[in-house]
Amino acid sequence: MNEPIKKIAVLTSGGDAPGMNAAIRAVVRACTYYRIECVGVYRGYQGLIEGDIEPLTARDVSNIINKGGTILKSARSMEFKTKEGRAKAYENLKKHGVGALVLIGGDGTFTGGLKFIEEFNFPLVGIPGTIDNDIYGTDNTIGYDTALNTVVEVIDKIRDTASSHNRLFFIEVMGRDAGFIALNTGIGAGAEEILIPEKNLGLDRLVESLKTSKETGKTSSIVVVSEGDKIGKNVFELADYINEHFPHYDIRVSVLGHMQRGGSPSCYDRVLASRLGVAAVEALLDRSTGVMIGITNNEVSMVGLDKAIKMNHDINKELLKVAEITSV
Ligand code: F6P
Repeated sequence: MNEPIKKIAVLTSGGDAPGMNAAIRAVVRACTYYRIECVGVYRGYQGLIEGDIEPLTARDVSNIINKGGTILKSARSMEFKTKEGRAKAYENLKKHGVGALVLIGGDGTFTGGLKFIEEFNFPLVGIPGTIDNDIYGTDNTIGYDTALNTVVEVIDKIRDTASSHNRLFFIEVMGRDAGFIALNTGIGAGAEEILIPEKNLGLDRLVESLKTSKETGKTSSIVVVSEGDKIGKNVFELADYINEHFPHYDIRVSVLGHMQRGGSPSCYDRVLASRLGVAAVEALLDRSTGVMIGITNNEVSMVGLDKAIKMNHDINKELLKVAEITSV
């Protein structure tokens, strides 16, 4: 594949994240700027297999920078996990004269991309788009900042009712394998305890902590639980368990769910997405492939897709300490 790239395709795959539209817009406009064609693939890898591919011009992406979700729609394609599915996808790219691909998504998306390179040596780069922030090689993923702000806003509201009724609230936030949302929103919203998959504090510690807060005069409390937490109980079982130990507590559970993925992206996410979109096109034009474009220490950076999905984006120990100290 040494001919010049004349057409780039962009797709969004996996869970949508606020800011994906800003990234699509940046990719399309960078293509216009560098005088190459751009096409959008609808419904991620599934659309690639089914040939759901349409041209995108700079004007087609007007008025989307502020919109949540993804105009290209997203899917988790089972068919792309098969060799036959990937072969169909490759044929469609060739049919449309596409020379390179920009993938916007998370680890599942990048795993598919790596397989595609292995089989067809097709040039592609990734842009990290997921609210979970569980990708190595970038300080933040697109959508994470917006999700944090959404969650904090909701927990603030729950705090009002928790304190009015002297209640203990268990609030489950997203993050299948990572506790970044829980830890940061827990600190930002002043949670009593934060349960994350990376650090299993155990049930005893939770019981002790709630006992201490009662003794030190707290009348209401908020416990933020990451959905991927490894304590061995889901948030409802956890609430029941605590209720057995503290029958006098008036306990409620709130599962925030998919509302965390929606909404207008924050300014941070819009800027991040714009930078990554431009850098992705530039990287492809420079013949980079198999890499993810990220931001590290406020500079555009690149990391191999294999590292992005396999290496851990460590939880910040200082944050754990801050959470502990500020909840006394
Ligand atoms: O990966 C992003 C994410 O929002 C996770 O936090 C969550 O576990 C998952 O997607 C939910 O996926 P779905 O929308 O397919 O239920």
